[in-house]
Amino acid sequence: MRKYLSLFLAAVVSTQLFADEGMWLPSRIYERIADMQDKGFRLTAEDLYSVNQASLKDGIVHFGGGCTGELISPDGLLITNHHCGYGQIQAHSSVEHDYLTNGFWAMTRDQELPNPGLTVSFLVRMDDVTSQVLKGCKQGMSESDRSEIIKKNTDAIVEKAETEGIGYKAKVSPLYYGNQYFLFLYQVFSDVRLVGAPPSSIGKFGGDTDNWMWPRHTGDFSLFRIYADKDNNPAPYSEDNVPYKPKKFFSISVKGIEEGDFTLVYGFPGRTQEYILSDAVDYIANVSNPHKIALRTMRLDNQKAEMEKSPEVRIKYASKNASVANSWKKWQGEMKGILKMNTVAEKQKYEKAFTEWAKGNAEYETVIPEMKKIYGVLAEYNFAEDYHKEAVMAVEAASFAGRYVKSDAGARESLAKSFFKNYHMPIDKNIFVDMMTAYSNNVPEKFRPEYFNVQMEKYGTPEKWADAIFSSTVYTDKDRLSAATEEQLAEDPFVEYYNSFNDFYNREIKPVIAENSARLSLLYRTYMKGQMEFDREKAFYPDANSTLRIAYGHVKGYKPADAVYYKPSSTLEGIMQKDNPDIYDYNIPQVLRDVYAKKDYGRWEVNGTVPVCFIATNHTSGGNSGSPVIDAEGNLIGVNFDRVWEGTMSDIVFDPDVCRNIALDIRYALFVIDKVAGASHLIDEMVIVE
Ligand code: ARG
Ligand code: GLU
Repeated sequence: MRKYLSLFLAAVVSTQLFADEGMWLPSRIYERIADMQDKGFRLTAEDLYSVNQASLKDGIVHFGGGCTGELISPDGLLITNHHCGYGQIQAHSSVEHDYLTNGFWAMTRDQELPNPGLTVSFLVRMDDVTSQVLKGCKQGMSESDRSEIIKKNTDAIVEKAETEGIGYKAKVSPLYYGNQYFLFLYQVFSDVRLVGAPPSSIGKFGGDTDNWMWPRHTGDFSLFRIYADKDNNPAPYSEDNVPYKPKKFFSISVKGIEEGDFTLVYGFPGRTQEYILSDAVDYIANVSNPHKIALRTMRLDNQKAEMEKSPEVRIKYASKNASVANSWKKWQGEMKGILKMNTVAEKQKYEKAFTEWAKGNAEYETVIPEMKKIYGVLAEYNFAEDYHKEAVMAVEAASFAGRYVKSDAGARESLAKSFFKNYHMPIDKNIFVDMMTAYSNNVPEKFRPEYFNVQMEKYGTPEKWADAIFSSTVYTDKDRLSAATEEQLAEDPFVEYYNSFNDFYNREIKPVIAENSARLSLLYRTYMKGQMEFDREKAFYPDANSTLRIAYGHVKGYKPADAVYYKPSSTLEGIMQKDNPDIYDYNIPQVLRDVYAKKDYGRWEVNGTVPVCFIATNHTSGGNSGSPVIDAEGNLIGVNFDRVWEGTMSDIVFDPDVCRNIALDIRYALFVIDKVAGASHLIDEMVIVE
């Protein structure tokens, strides 16, 4: 019977885990270690994760909540991506000290710059606390009673764990949709100083043109240092603090990288959805992504048109444009990847086989049909929500007005300052017209607030509505805003816009989504458990949830299209081929041109050039930015920063043929620190394995 079942499974569904797919839990890595060693890894499970001795996890931090960073010296020196430190680099920049443009290098420790608000967290340990969390829960009890017990148990676990050490922060997170619960205990440091950043023309080389793409030549790194009190404990910023002595830091290998070499990425991926129903994938690939992409295309076109007219506007919108473009580009790759993988049909086949298997099993028999019913209800609400977020709230003046009017005097001042610093009204007005046009064409009547209909009735077209609202608002002009009375502020047409759309959304859309999503997530708990019983051959890894994970694979090129093969590593030659003083994204600093002309590469020279980036088969996601990429011996060989465009569907479905993570070759970072920045004192702190 067993044998028959697995044959049957192999024939109808392709669920077996492909070679390098998976984001594994560090505390359970012993379950994978034999496979990892087969593939070339030379360390043990204890070397990666241990609660008894220093292990590699002790050299890794969750950086600022959204990225990863790793320690590279006994004095608390940390490397992460340039795009992860971007906010800090920008915050220290001014016209006189433009660190974004020119880079920043602390030549002595007292030049290192503090960053209020920035924290880094080390994972102290992770524990399976499922039985403690579920203690007191009984079969058949109501879900609300159950969640109450879970909350009480969780709070107690967290509270106790946080007393264990200085700066400890605990979190209990569900894994496998609540089939398991894990405690994650962190030690949080808040004195983290900026040490170095290359100019953006290196750290962001290729900009949004090359973003999500291979071949890549971005020197995407920045350096920070963690400071602690004299007892090596976390402490708020103080001049008396001293560099933190980590339990573990990474040695750096400059031995070189070859296709086929083992690689491991150790970091904090944010969110994946590998086990969702075909209905959810169908919605993402065929409805949500296409609409969100179309809306963002209009926004980007409007920004670009004005940015090209004026260098001032280009600077104002550089960062906003980048963040709008980042998801816009990812969604396109993701959608194409899902369609190419035929994921909807594959999942439907899988669901059919699951349903066959579940016949007569009271726990699992109805779970898929029940979930499908909920997806049927949710689809139009999700669509309305997409338009609310991506169209209605894309109007900058509206979201500014909404936030401003609710804030107190102190907050208002800084809100206004940061808003007007980067605002260009003509862009916003054109976006308003495009967004309201798309809204009126695509959002069904029942999901539009009365307010919208009244305005359209009154003005006739989005253009005329735009003329009226932009000429009467006080929120698009600094002087008019500061001269406005409290009454004018509150009765402004953009406040009305913001409140009318939001009230409608909060009343008619959000609650339906919340209620159905809650029901759905309960059903996912059952479905996930069912999938694990249905397919016993498969090793299931929990979806990413911003907790520490290990992904392993190997350096490998890929074929993006017919007749094309991409090699796995890039070099300085490619930077020089792209170099163009007339194109913003490709205009490298003169010093790099000079170094290239003299071929002054020093110890970083490899075959007459310098390696820059490489790709590998590690399964990564957003949040893995800045993660250490290590070799078979555990030495640092790269810093993860992106994925290739053809593989961006890996948050939903992993294709071993094209899913690749992109890493900065650590040798390029060292070359830039040494030859471009002249900051070789930083290299002297590191341990380099030749
Ligand atoms: N795609 C990378 C990530 O998702 C890099 C983003 C920053 N770079 C940029 N050109 N926008 O974070
Ligand atoms: N750039 C992404 C980040 O900031 C990593 C790329 C990805 O999504 O894989 O985390």
